[in-house]
Parts: sequence; C-alpha cells; structure tokens
Amino acid sequence: MHGLAGRIQARRRRVRALAIAGACLLAGMPAHAPAQPSAQDTQPAAESPDVAAGRLIAERGVQAGHVGCAACHMMNGAGQPDMAIPRLAGAAPAYLQQQLSFFAAGKRTSFWMTPFARALTPQQMRAVAAYYAAQSAPVEADAEALVPVPAGRHARGQTVFETGGGGAGVMPCAGCHGPAGQGMGPFPPLAGQSAPYVLGQLRRWKRGSDRDPMGKIMVMEVRGMNDADMQAVAAFVQSLSGNGPGSGSGNAQ
Ligand code: HEC
Ligand code: HEC
Repeated sequence: MHGLAGRIQARRRRVRALAIAGACLLAGMPAHAPAQPSAQDTQPAAESPDVAAGRLIAERGVQAGHVGCAACHMMNGAGQPDMAIPRLAGAAPAYLQQQLSFFAAGKRTSFWMTPFARALTPQQMRAVAAYYAAQSAPVEADAEALVPVPAGRHARGQTVFETGGGGAGVMPCAGCHGPAGQGMGPFPPLAGQSAPYVLGQLRRWKRGSDRDPMGKIMVMEVRGMNDADMQAVAAFVQSLSGNGPGSGSGNAQ
C-alpha cells in the first residue's frame, strides 16, 4: 500500500514538472505563442469576439459554393469520429484560431481544411473559434469500436497516457494534455477526439512532419513510440470523457 501511494505521489510530481517543462519549451519557440492581447494593441482585437457571426460561419460558410464548417465539424463541434474529422467543441479559442491561421498560411496542410481556412479573415477566424470553443457537445459514448484494439492493449494505452510507458523520451500524455485529457492552457484537449484522428496525427509526427510550428514537442514525443503503442494510446484517448481529476480547468474562454 505504502509503495503504491508513494509511486502515485512521485508520478503526480513528475506530471506537474512535465507540464512546466512543456510550457517552457513552448515559450522558447519563436513567434507562434498563442495571441495574448496586450495593452499596447491598437487593433480592435481587444473587443470580445463576435460569437453570433461565428455561428453563421459555422452554419453557412463565408463564400459562395463553400459549405459551412458544420458540414464536417457539425454545429455542436462534435466532429465526425469515423471520418477523422476532429472535435472542436470546448477547445481553447486561442488554439482553434491559431490552427486556422496555420492552415491559411500553409503551415499546416490538409486537403479538406486549407480552402476553408483560406477563405476566412482574421476576425472571422476569431469569431468562429470563439463559437466552437463555447460548444459543449457530448463526447461520443460508443466510439470505442472505431479502432479495435485487443483488450490487453487498452490497458497499455492507459499506461502510456499516464506514465509514458517506458519508451525512451516518451512523456506521459497526461502531463501536458491533463489527467482527464481535458487540455491545459496551450495544450489542446484530447478527450472527445476519435482514435482515427489521434492515430493519424501521431503517425504524421512519427514520420517526422511537425504538422505546424507548434508540433515540435509532439515530434519528440512520438520518436520513442512504436505503432502498437500509438494505436493503444489512440484507443485509450477515445475512451476519455474529459471528466475527471483536474477537468474543467483552463479551457473555457
Ligand atoms: C470538408 C470538411 C471540413 C470543413 C468544411 C471544415 N473542416 Fe475543419 N477540419 C477538417 C479535417 C479533416 C480536419 C483535420 C485535418 C488534419 O488531419 O490535420 C480539420 C481540422 C480543423 C481544425 C484543427 C483542429 C485541431 O484539433 O487541431 C480546426 C480549428 C478546424 N478544422 C476548423 C474549421 C472551421 C472553423 C471551418 C469552417 C470555416 C472548418 N474547419 C471547415 C475538415 C473540415
Ligand atoms: C510536453 C508536452 C506534451 C506531451 C507530453 C504530449 N503532448 Fe500532445 N501536444 C502537445 C502540444 C504542444 C500540442 C499542439 C501541437 C501543435 O499545435 O502542432 C499537442 C497536440 C497533440 C495532438 C493533436 C490534438 C489536436 O486537436 O489536433 C494529439 C492527438 C496529441 N498531442 C496526442 C498526445 C499523446 C497521445 C501524448 C502521449 C503519448 C501526448 N500528446 C503527449 C504537447 C504534448
């Protein structure tokens, strides 16, 4: 009993230290930190985003011949788990806005997303990011079947998520993405993302692609992981509800 409690304590300390290390890594990265409105900002960015305008963009898009975001991400931001279309609901608005600007600038590429991001002005990105961040679509309950992993591998996924699983340089996912996968500050939520989406992103980083200028941490993270562990952790992530210790912190606006 004693030993176990001690191990859990030690793990908690390690997880906290990692989140700090991760934040420092991000801080050390030039130019792309999430936008922090500063007192000197002369732009109207200090005003609150136009959530109603964001809703209209989600519904109808901004360009003739373009569908709205909802055609893929749904109005409630749930995404489409079986299509690897990510959930947007409840993510930090700064994260969503930043990813849109990466797509628009060609710093993150997606056959599907790029044309839709390119059509948006910065104000429209801010508005639609605020709209989706404010959504609280329920997390898919039966998503489990999407990436079938043998029962034993599910436990392995949890181990990787909580402890890093022992691969060289593999840090616990929970240390940055939160113990319930709810996201923390600049680290996006994983709870509610489907196994196909998570696995697709992990494999992209494993191939050495940064994905976008904020992706260097994840490239380092997956270096010591094999494909079986990536499948296992993707399946485990899909089983997270986002409700648990530490949830509800940091991601609302
Ligand atoms: C045709 C389908 C489609 C449409 C329409 C679409 N998206 Fe996407 N979106 C995707 C796919 C697929 C991805 C995942 C891309 C990848 O694999 O990197 C994505 C990714 C994103 C991401 C990154 C999410 C993350 O967790 O990193 C954001 C933000 C986003 N979309 C917002 C929008 C907004 C806002 C609109 C409307 C202006 C929109 N999308 C329209 C399919 C679509
Ligand atoms: C040291 C901090 C850190 C650790 C540890 C970490 N991540 Fe990440 N993760 C990030 C950052 C930062 C991003 C945003 C990357 C970007 O924008 O390109 C991210 C993004 C992601 C995304 C994309 C989310 C989205 O909405 O597109 C997935 C999936 C992911 N991480 C999975 C994992 C898994 C699984 C683990 C554990 C095996 C893990 N991460 C460990 C920092 C971390």
